[in-house]
Amino acid sequence: MAYWNWEDSYNIGIEDIDNQHKKIVEYINELHEAIILNDKNIVKNTLFHITDYIVSHFSFEEKLMEEADYPQFMHHKNIHETFVSNIGRYKIAFNEGHDIAGQLMAELQIWLTHHILHEDRAYKECVQKMLSGKSENKKSSLFEKFFGSSTRQ
Ligand SMILES: [Fe+2]
Repeated sequence: MAYWNWEDSYNIGIEDIDNQHKKIVEYINELHEAIILNDKNIVKNTLFHITDYIVSHFSFEEKLMEEADYPQFMHHKNIHETFVSNIGRYKIAFNEGHDIAGQLMAELQIWLTHHILHEDRAYKECVQKMLSGKSENKKSSLFEKFFGSSTRQ
């Protein structure tokens, strides 16, 4: 059974963003399995994979907010930056041999749930309005810019 199950209440109503959030939940489940297996290399790979993906996801979100002239853009970007530097400290501790994977996993789950339900929900209307004026092609190329693939999922 998965460690963390996606709940419909997490959806903010912007498909690309919801799919990215679902992916993060999947990665956290992978991290959980890696921790149970107790294989340091798998934990390390999963840990780095998750954090890279989160950084790309934040950049994608920031681009949308910026294009939408979202009034709280800088505030939201600051929240992302603080979170990324916090993750960076965990990565350093992990590389120094500290067993922080479980703690980081729990923090990612709590932080992301709160962030999705509150801060991300707050930009929804503004970003949706901006996206409604964009063609599917434009949306795909925006996605490709941050995730390097035209397969949006
Ligand atoms: Fe966000």
